[in-house]
Amino acid sequence: MRGVYDCSVLIRPATLADAPAVTAIYNAEGVATTASYDLEPVSVAERERYIAEHLDAGLPFYVAEDATTVVGYACYGGFRVKPGYRYSVEHSVYVASSHRGRGVGRALLSELIATARAAGLHVMVAVIDAANSSSVAFHAGFGFEAAGIWPEICWKFGAWHDVAVMTLKLGDAVPEPGNVIFGG
Ligand SMILES: CC(C)(COP(=O)(O)OP(=O)(O)OC[C@H]1O[C@@H](n2cnc3c(N)ncnc32)[C@H](O)[C@@H]1OP(=O)(O)O)[C@@H](O)C(=O)NCCC(=O)NCCS
Repeated sequence: MRGVYDCSVLIRPATLADAPAVTAIYNAEGVATTASYDLEPVSVAERERYIAEHLDAGLPFYVAEDATTVVGYACYGGFRVKPGYRYSVEHSVYVASSHRGRGVGRALLSELIATARAAGLHVMVAVIDAANSSSVAFHAGFGFEAAGIWPEICWKFGAWHDVAVMTLKLGDAVPEPGNVIFGG
C-alpha cells in the first residue's frame, strides 16, 4: 500500500488483476477522446502486457482505488530510447470521468512524481493534446512548464491535432558515472 489521500482513494501499485479496470478507463478516457492517439480500443490482454512490461522493468504503475473500484491509474516509461534520454520519463495519468475533480489525479501524479524523484530521474514529460485544457491546467498546477507545441502532429477523428509538451524538472543532481536508468 502507498498513500491514502484527502480524496480518500487508496493509491497502490497495480497488479495484473487490475488490467480489466485499466483497460476500461483507457478505452473510455483515452481512446474515445483525443487524450490518447490510439485509434482503436485496446484489449484486456494488451493492457495486461502493458502493466507487466512496467512491473518487469521496475517502473511504477499505480492505480487509485475507491472502496474496491479502480477509478484511475498513472505510470511512466522512458521518454525516448537513445541513452542520453535515460534520466527523462514520459508519464500517463487517467481518471474515470465519474471521479474527476475530486483530487484523484492529484493523488496519482503526486505519487508518480515522488517515485521519479526517489529514482534519481531528472525530467518528467507530459505529452498532451493541446486542446485538452483540463490536462494542461492540471499539469501546470504541479509546476510543469510549457515546452512547446507540435503543430498538427496527430490525425484522429478526421482532424489534425496540435500536441503540447510540458516538462517538470525533478531535481538538480548530476548523474553518477555508470548510473544507468534507461536505455544505456
Ligand atoms: C487530467 C486528469 C488526470 C485530472 O484528474 P482529476 O482527478 O480530475 O484532477 P484533480 O481533481 O486531482 O485536480 C487537481 C488539479 O488539477 C486542476 N484541474 C483538474 N481538472 C481541471 C479542469 N477541468 N480545469 C482546470 N483545472 C483542472 C486543478 O488545478 C486541480 O486543483 P484543485 O483541486 O486545487 O482545483 C483527468 O481530467 C483525466 O483523466 N482526463 C482525461 C485523460 C487525460 O487527459 N489524461 C492526461 C493525458 S496527458
